[in-house]
Amino acid sequence: MPYDSSPGARCQYLMCPPEYFDVRYSINPWMDPSKPVDTGLAMAQWERLRETYLALGHQIELIDPVPGLPDMVFAANGATVIGNRALIARYRYPQRAAEAPAYRDWFLANGFQVSDEPRFINEGQGDYLLEGERLLAGTGFRTDRLSHDEAQELYGLPVVSLTLVNPSFYHLDTALAILGKGHIMYYPEAFSVGSQQVLRRLYPDAILANRRDAEAFGLNAVSDGVNVVLPQVATHLIEVLREHGYHPVGVDMSELHKSGGAVKCCTLELVPETAAAAAAA
Ligand code: ARG
Repeated sequence: MPYDSSPGARCQYLMCPPEYFDVRYSINPWMDPSKPVDTGLAMAQWERLRETYLALGHQIELIDPVPGLPDMVFAANGATVIGNRALIARYRYPQRAAEAPAYRDWFLANGFQVSDEPRFINEGQGDYLLEGERLLAGTGFRTDRLSHDEAQELYGLPVVSLTLVNPSFYHLDTALAILGKGHIMYYPEAFSVGSQQVLRRLYPDAILANRRDAEAFGLNAVSDGVNVVLPQVATHLIEVLREHGYHPVGVDMSELHKSGGAVKCCTLELVPETAAAAAAA
């Protein structure tokens, strides 16, 4: 084992193997369909991510990939889940639309309470990140701002709308990560000036990432409060996390990066009802 598994919270994640992963269309600046993609390598990297989570003591649920949906590996986009309630995605681009019913079926089959057809475009945990008892919500490229109201009505949690302004960081989870216990890390320049002020006000102690960290997708990370799994190329951010007392775990996500995704994108966090309260305590 290349790392010791420090005890963080025990988490449950939903993942989708990248069996049909490819870059055949371009819906974000990272995607270049003329560049070759090695699906076998993507599978190996994804498998390594899954093993990393298992070694850290987390539980992994799997959803079957659907042929013809090359982005389905990015499970985070499939839904927002808090406790038993899942708000299923409604994708911005038609190329990904058929992923929504697949995720809906999974949540129904696994005993979750699934909300009605979402009224507004939302890309799940790509843009909705639960921080304690508030939901940080991205908008600007994918999730519709009106969806933030829909999420607030569904969960009864305060929703903080944050506007993304840089197309390279088109989902909230490419520009901000929850570390736990009221602590976050983010790349300020990815946000509008007003949203930067909101983040400074709410999280004066946040770790601020630089452009290189963000371009390495270092913020596309998953934390259990102790261990922070993130792309290994985010070497500077890894050092900063270590200085702050975290246990960073770097993984190779190079193939998935070609589609504009990395660790968090591949990970849909199934958050128990009590977690919001526990995180706030
Ligand atoms: N190619 C996918 C898209 O553009 C990548 C999604 C990444 N997911 C995420 N949670 N940021 O939709």
